[in-house]
Amino acid sequence: MEFETLKSTILATRTVHNFKEGVPIDPRDIEKALEVSLYAPNHKLTNPWHIFHVSDETRKRLSSLARELAREKGLDDEGQKKAMAKVMAPSALIVYALPINSQNKSQEREDYATLSCSIQLFALALRTLGFSYKWSTGGLSRHAQSYDLLGIDPHDFEIIGFIWVGKSLKEPILTKRPTLNEVVRHI
Ligand SMILES: Cc1cc2nc3c(=O)[nH]c(=O)nc-3n(C[C@H](O)[C@H](O)[C@H](O)COP(=O)(O)O)c2cc1C
Repeated sequence: MEFETLKSTILATRTVHNFKEGVPIDPRDIEKALEVSLYAPNHKLTNPWHIFHVSDETRKRLSSLARELAREKGLDDEGQKKAMAKVMAPSALIVYALPINSQNKSQEREDYATLSCSIQLFALALRTLGFSYKWSTGGLSRHAQSYDLLGIDPHDFEIIGFIWVGKSLKEPILTKRPTLNEVVRHI
């Protein structure tokens, strides 16, 4: 692959905050993107992947929880409906859970590194298939009821990301990064 092709894919893989509603995604596209994402580096080959492709039914339940959280925050009816719509609008929701390893925190940290690399590979692969993403660690992803709804035991796993997949409502902004001079030291 040409460097410029890789670079333009990386730069186009931006976080999307507002997704178009009702855009279907072929589940095979999700599978294809997930399959390549498993080729992230994985120290000691621990296979730390616990990935949940969330059904529409479960998403509806999560959207009710999102509404409840919005209500607790004091949002009015319109705000609560928006919170629900945010859960339902994207084409898919993929959840990544990290195995908790209290005996070996350094292993857990390295597993988190693997999952992070994997999520970025997933996002890049989706981009080439015409879809965008958002990695979210907001209140919904951390809520005890979300663990319940997804059947994830919080003693064994930490949800490290809700990955929303879909088409962006508008052109995402290319966020600013530091220049190399600011971050690289030649020693
Ligand atoms: C670990 C992690 C957690 C994130 N959680 C959130 C989140 O909860 N809400 C959100 O709006 N964006 C979240 N993001 C997306 C970042 O805010 C995003 O990368 C940043 O806005 C820069 O945008 P860009 O990815 O388009 O360059 C998260 C990203 C990472 C890596």
